[in-house]
Amino acid sequence: MKILVTGSGGMLASALAELLEREHRVSALSRKEFDITDVSSVRKNILRVSPQVIVNCAAYTKVDKAEEERSEAFLINAEGPRNLAAVCRKLGARLIHISTDFVFDGKKSVPYKEEARPYPLSVYGMSKLQGEKNVQDETTDFIIIRTSWLYGRGKDNFVKKVASLARKRKDLPVVYDQIGTPTYTGDLSTAIMNLLDKPPGIYHFSNEGVASWYDFAHAIVEEMKKGGMKMRLEALRPILTEEYPAPAKRPAYSVLDKSKYKRITGEAIPHWRESLSRYVAEELWRRR
Ligand SMILES: NC(=O)c1ccc[n+]([C@@H]2O[C@H](COP(=O)([O-])OP(=O)(O)OC[C@H]3O[C@@H](n4cnc5c(N)ncnc54)[C@H](OP(=O)(O)O)[C@@H]3O)[C@@H](O)[C@H]2O)c1
Repeated sequence: MKILVTGSGGMLASALAELLEREHRVSALSRKEFDITDVSSVRKNILRVSPQVIVNCAAYTKVDKAEEERSEAFLINAEGPRNLAAVCRKLGARLIHISTDFVFDGKKSVPYKEEARPYPLSVYGMSKLQGEKNVQDETTDFIIIRTSWLYGRGKDNFVKKVASLARKRKDLPVVYDQIGTPTYTGDLSTAIMNLLDKPPGIYHFSNEGVASWYDFAHAIVEEMKKGGMKMRLEALRPILTEEYPAPAKRPAYSVLDKSKYKRITGEAIPHWRESLSRYVAEELWRRR
C-alpha cells in the first residue's frame, strides 16, 4: 500500500513511519514539506504521492498554550484535517486521523466508548473535536482513532520529564486525581497498521489498564531503579490537580473503552506497565 504520513517530525509519526516502512511504501512528510493548513500544498503533495491512505499525525499539541493560541490550534487541528479529508474524497483515498481523550469532560467513571457524548474542557480538546467533525463532514472513508497520554521516542514526554527531574530533585509532586491510560507510540503504531483496511468509523485505542499520573510516575521511577539509574529523588508526592494549576482544564477520568478495536482487529493490547518497561529498556537506557 502507498501511505502518506503527515507531521513526520512528531513523536507518533516517527514511530509509525518506521513501522509502516517494513510492509508499505511510505512518504513521511514534515511540516516544512507539507503544511496541512496550506490548501495548495495539501493538494500538490497528495496528488504527487497519490497514496491509498493518509495518516494524519500532524497536530497542534501544546495543550496549555492553546488556551491563548486558539486560532492557531483550530487552524491546525480543525481546518488541517478538513483540507486533507476533502482531497482524500476527491482522490478516493482513506484518511486515518488521530484524535484525543481530551474530547471528553471526564465526568464518567467507566471507560468511554466511541459513541459517548464528547464535551471538551479545553481549547485543545475543542479544536480536536472540531477536526473530527470536519473529517466526517468531508469524507465517508475515514478512521478516527482517539488515544491518550502518549509517550515514545523523539519529543520530550512525561517519561523523560520524570526521569530527568528524578535525577535532579529530592521531592517530586505529581497529580493523583487525573485517571487515564499511558499509551506507547509503538503500540499505537501497531494499532494504526491493524486498522488500515478495517471498516470506517471512530475507534478508541490506548494501552490496557488504568493509572493516575502519580501511578505512572511511580512506575517510571521503579523502572529507573531496575535499570540502576542514579537519582536524587527521595519521595514522589501525590497532589491534587488544584495544587498544580494549569491554564487548560483536563478531564479527571479519560479511560477509553477499546472493545471495538479488539473485536474488529482480533488483536490483544499490551498493558501500559509492560509497554513502559519495553520502552524504557529499548529506548531510554540505550542512550545512557
Ligand atoms: N501527545 C499526547 O499525549 C497525545 C495524547 C492524545 C492524542 N494525541 C494526538 O496524537 C497525535 C500525535 O501527537 P504527537 O504527540 O505525536 O504530536 P507531536 O509530537 O507534537 O507532533 C505533531 C507534529 O505535527 C507537526 N505540525 C504542526 N502543525 C503542522 C502543520 N500545519 N502541518 C504539518 N505538520 C504540522 C509538528 O511540527 P512542529 O513541531 O514543527 O510544529 C509536529 O512535528 C496528535 O493528533 C495528537 O493530538 C497526542
